[in-house]
Amino acid sequence: MKRSLSMEVVRVTEAAAIASARWMGRGLKMEADDAATTAMRQVFDSIPMQGTVVIGEGEMDEAPMLYIGEQLGHDENGPHVDIAVDPLEGTNIVAAGSGNALTVLAIADRGNLLHAPDMYMEKIAVGPEAAGKIDINAPVIDNLRAVAKAKNKDIEDVVATLLNRDRHQHIVDQIRDAGARIKFISDGDVAAAINTAFDETGVDILFGMGGAPEGVIAAVALKCLGGEFQGKLIPSNDEEIERCKKMGIEVNKVLYMDDLVKGDDAIFAATGVTDGELLKGVQFKGGHCTTESVVMRAKSGTVRFIEGRHSLTKKPNLFMEY
Ligand code: FBP
Repeated sequence: MKRSLSMEVVRVTEAAAIASARWMGRGLKMEADDAATTAMRQVFDSIPMQGTVVIGEGEMDEAPMLYIGEQLGHDENGPHVDIAVDPLEGTNIVAAGSGNALTVLAIADRGNLLHAPDMYMEKIAVGPEAAGKIDINAPVIDNLRAVAKAKNKDIEDVVATLLNRDRHQHIVDQIRDAGARIKFISDGDVAAAINTAFDETGVDILFGMGGAPEGVIAAVALKCLGGEFQGKLIPSNDEEIERCKKMGIEVNKVLYMDDLVKGDDAIFAATGVTDGELLKGVQFKGGHCTTESVVMRAKSGTVRFIEGRHSLTKKPNLFMEY
């Protein structure tokens, strides 16, 4: 992949963030998601590549745009890439006006991203210091001990993060029994997984079950950051079991980094929609607005934080009408 693609794709997440941030706190999650999706779709057309959506807004008959199989990009000589998008990661967050909503995408050479079906995935994620030390099949306490050792901390100082869901009570009990601390999130486990790689966010390890598509996107980010992500698809009915079989994925098989994103190259980009631990949300300031994004590339290991200042008068299409 051309390295210039990383600078191009950040414009996609920026546009989606600006469009969806207009819906912050308005209690309308579908509208926030639609705004992000429409903006993302528009800007993708300006990127010189031949992209195929492998993780998107749904199947072709379910989603008007950014559906699985949709071709994106304008350059017929451009690189052939797989694209995974989550135009708005945290639709409820934006609707509720809370923190940590992102617009995210991941790109890899064609055929290198797992085409994760829309079902749950059990996940564990850590930053670079603890990479290679975790095991999704091991007891929670073993993983907490491994992270504590890798980060030279006491287990009481380790902060585990997970979605605040009833289904996670058994994990919560084990974390509490081990004496570690917990940061609950209401939504948005992509941001939570990425946060494990940045000390300033205060979280060390992600546990729990969330969306499988989000799992692949988080795995790309952690690949770029030198962290680790492991997942297991958790089908909840016969139809989902059948889908796993068709994909050749055994239920309960551990999906390691190379299963989720093959090869040594991939690009990840995210822009904050609402304020989070890592990225500030979009701020509207009259004639312009500001964005904070992160874009990273696995091959080079480069991580760039990009602050954008966008003129809403020169680019009125960034300004949502409602
Ligand atoms: P949406 O933005 O699509 O609403 O997803 C938010 C999210 O919290 C993901 O980050 C997470 O993987 C998934 O939903 C968890 O699903 P559930 O709400 O069913 O527990």
